[in-house]
Parts: sequence; structure tokens; C-alpha cells
Amino acid sequence: MNTVSIIGGSGYVGGEVARLVLMRDDLELVQVTSSSTLGEHVHSAHPNLRGRTDLRFTSPDELKDVDFIFSALPHGTSDSKMKDLLSHAEHVIDTSADFRLNDPEVYRKWYGHDHASPELMESFPYGLPELHRSEIREKGRAAAPGCVATSTILGLFPFREIAQRVLVDSKIGSSAAGKTVSDSSHHPERSGVIRPYAPVDHRHRAEILQETGVDVMMTVHAVEMVRGISTTIHIEIGEKLTEKDVWGYLRSTYGKEPFIRVIRSQKGIFRYPEPKLIAGSNYCDLGFELDPNSNRLVVFSAIDNLMKGAAGSAMQCMNVIMGCDETKGLEFTGLHPI
Ligand SMILES: NC(=O)c1ccc[n+]([C@@H]2O[C@H](COP(=O)([O-])OP(=O)(O)OC[C@H]3O[C@@H](n4cnc5c(N)ncnc54)[C@H](OP(=O)(O)O)[C@@H]3O)[C@@H](O)[C@H]2O)c1
Repeated sequence: MNTVSIIGGSGYVGGEVARLVLMRDDLELVQVTSSSTLGEHVHSAHPNLRGRTDLRFTSPDELKDVDFIFSALPHGTSDSKMKDLLSHAEHVIDTSADFRLNDPEVYRKWYGHDHASPELMESFPYGLPELHRSEIREKGRAAAPGCVATSTILGLFPFREIAQRVLVDSKIGSSAAGKTVSDSSHHPERSGVIRPYAPVDHRHRAEILQETGVDVMMTVHAVEMVRGISTTIHIEIGEKLTEKDVWGYLRSTYGKEPFIRVIRSQKGIFRYPEPKLIAGSNYCDLGFELDPNSNRLVVFSAIDNLMKGAAGSAMQCMNVIMGCDETKGLEFTGLHPI
């Protein structure tokens, strides 16, 4: 039995990690921390966990020794806390942006401050098992990727070497912003919107460049969803591709990946990936279309931001480190209709 703590457990990602851990009989959840809800039941913040745990939130300053720590703190917080976390667990999986980049200068450029533990940055592999499986297993740590970055990287990666120019258009649900309320998340202001949220210079560009070698042009919109990301990646290529070529790139990159599905039906309404259909699951659904009028390949990518975009990838990394089946605890298919 592996023991688990969740740091920053009153937030959306922490709650999702708790749900995943509590569904497994080979893991014991021993601690969930929060300052704002200290002493309250974990299910007071995460009502879906009623009847599944009697744990109460404990202080982030009184950590127990465990096998795995999942850290779900805001970025700019876990970099200074990481040495302490590592003194309490052999394995740490961080879901913040603090350990995704491996160059302190790049981190400073995008996050506007110096990293508090630059010497640890390279010890955290980027937490996409599809790209870094053996490194994650070897180092026993991972920095789970950003949610918009996950949907973009997985869609772009197979084509990175033939991509000449890449334009990314991403639509994200409200839970991607976390639990803290703001003017823009107030219901009358958020409901029904299609709002350009990061028209240029989204921070995830840095992760995408690091992982694919492609500096993308990128715009993100906030849309009317709670969970989910739909990313459209326009890839200009130097040569005309056939459908068979595109399938070849996808199959050779992801042939045996358990969580990547290529969605491409010739008829019906489910011809392309849709985030609604995979809410709660760890899938990344990919689809594509070739533009007959130009050398443009359009790739569609859908994920649940809290699952494949955060907690699901984090648990997948844990499974890689444990050496168990990578799909363990992540078998949920999503619901239809929903
Ligand atoms: N939401 C997503 O879709 C998503 C996807 C990928 C990655 N991420 C990343 O994952 C992390 C968690 O995201 P989230 O959406 O769960 O955020 P959230 O809902 O805002 O939760 C953040 C958690 O951190 C705790 N916290 C805040 N400041 C703290 C501090 N100084 N020291 C200790 N604990 C502190 C909060 O609880 P208390 O204030 O009660 O302590 C809360 O439990 C973030 O870094 C985020 O960027 C989020």
C-alpha cells in the first residue's frame, strides 16, 4: 500500500487528485492540506467525496512522511516549498508551472520572478508520459504539464518536424482558473462568454516550445464550459500530405498510447474530438482535416483540463513511477449523454 498526501487540497486540482486516489485500493490517502479550510472535512470542499473519506484538512506546515506527495499549489508557491516536500516523500508530483521548464532564465522571462529552487528544475521531468515515460520512471518525480499546453503539445508533437508555421486557437472552461473567484469569473460576467483571454503571449507557449521545438502563435478564449479544452492547431507544412501520411505520423507516435484516441468518423455528429464527451476521463482525443486549398493540416485536440490537463496526467505519472498498469485508476470513459 502506497501512502499519499495532497498539498493544496482544497483547490480544484487537489480535489480531483483526491477523487482519483480514493477510488484505488492500493493507495492510502493520509493527508490533504489547506489553510483556508483547515480542520474542515475534505468533503466540505469536494462534496462529490462525501461518504468516501472522513479526512479533515490539515495545515501545510505539518506534513507527514508518505510515499507520494501531489502538490497542487498555485505557481510561484511550490518552488520555495519543494525542498520541504521532498524531505517528506520519495516521490513528488507537482501540478503547478514551477518545475515544468528546465531553464531558470526562461522561467524568469515568463513568470516574472526568479525561481526559488533552480537547482531542482532539471530533476523534474515534464509530466507527459507519452513523451517522457522512462525519465519519469527513473527520476521518480514529475511536473504535470499545463492544461492548454497538454492539448497543444499532444496534437502538435507528431508533426513537429514538418511544421513550418503553427497557429493555435484554444477554448477553455472556467475550472482552468482554479477556485478563487474574480471579476471575470462572477457568473453574470462569465456565463455565455466567448472571451479572448490570452490573445498573445500565453505562458504555456514556453512549455510548448520546450517540448516540441516549435514556437507557436497562440490565442486562448474562455468559453461556456466548466471542464474541458478544445484546441485547434493550424499547421502549415512544406509539402502536400495525404490522409494516409497523417495517419502514419499519428500511429507511429501514439500507436500504443492508452489515453490518445484518434477521432475521425466519416459520418454522424461525432466526427471530431469534443471535450464534453471526455469530461472526467484521462483521454486526449485528437482529430484532423487536410485543407484541399493549401498546405494546411488542421489538428483538433480535446481534453478535460482537470484530468489529462492536470490530475489525470499526475496519476498517470504516479503509475509510471510505481511500475503498475498506466491506466490504473484512470479507466473512466466519460459519460454520454451528458
Ligand atoms: N485548474 C486547472 O485546470 C489546472 C490545470 C493544470 C494545472 N493547474 C495548476 O495546478 C495548481 C492548482 O490549480 P487549481 O486549479 O487547483 O488551483 P486552486 O483551485 O486555486 O487551488 C490552489 C490550492 O492551493 C492552496 N494554496 C494557495 N496558496 C497557498 C500557499 N501560499 N501555501 C499553501 N497552499 C496554498 C489553496 O488552498 P488554501 O488557500 O486553503 O491553502 C488551494 O487548495 C496551480 O498551480 C495551477 O496552475 C491547474
